[in-house]
Amino acid sequence: MIDIHCHIIPGVDDGAKDLAMAEKMLAAAAADAIDTIICTPHSSGNPEQPRSEIIPQLQQSAASWNITLLEGMEYSYQHLSRTTALKTLGNSSFLLIDFHRAPPLEAVNGIFFALARRGFQIIVAHPERSFRDLSDIEKLHHAGAYFQLSADSFLGEWGRQPLNMAMRMFKHGLCHYIASDAHGGNKMFHLRECRQLLSGYGGPNCIDTLMDENPCRLLKNQPPLKVLPEKRPATGFRRLIKFFAPRSEIRP
Ligand SMILES: [Fe+2]
Repeated sequence: MIDIHCHIIPGVDDGAKDLAMAEKMLAAAAADAIDTIICTPHSSGNPEQPRSEIIPQLQQSAASWNITLLEGMEYSYQHLSRTTALKTLGNSSFLLIDFHRAPPLEAVNGIFFALARRGFQIIVAHPERSFRDLSDIEKLHHAGAYFQLSADSFLGEWGRQPLNMAMRMFKHGLCHYIASDAHGGNKMFHLRECRQLLSGYGGPNCIDTLMDENPCRLLKNQPPLKVLPEKRPATGFRRLIKFFAPRSEIRP
């Protein structure tokens, strides 16, 4: 399994604070059957500072868990216009961009167009936490964006609204990748747990595409496959969705 969004590099942002925590994250990743991690520090942090010393040590630890580390970045939308050299996910053509809140769509269209002209493809990080209107998500998709949702959102860790939006996006084929956004501490990977939960809703093939096939395609510069749930949710999960979601929005 490939995790395309993870804050495992120590001391560069609000992720792993030291090498010891990063090594705990590697152990947790291995337990989740993750074999490749794309390291995506925040562009708002100080992502380049200690890399020359820390990265080789982290690579060595990862190798002992049979985990490959690739480089990437999680760009804040506000920083994009100020950054000329952009770091993509695993040296692909895909950029990971975080919108802290829903931005004006005219501004987004302009930036997306400029990035597309430079050959970049765009993945929006965990939009279920920033957006409240599915039509805004659809407009971003029409402007060229794909969407990475977080495992923790499906598990209800971010509360009712992100869970509700995650399920709506999943149901409408607007979830293209599921990643951890792990930061260490009590924010670990939870990909295995999420896989089990969503398999009961969308079917295992659907989840394989979101967690395995689409991340593999990303590393080959191929666009993600569209995924729609295959079957009705299992009873227990259906109850969970009904508990969190307004009746008018989700009818599992
Ligand atoms: Fe992140």
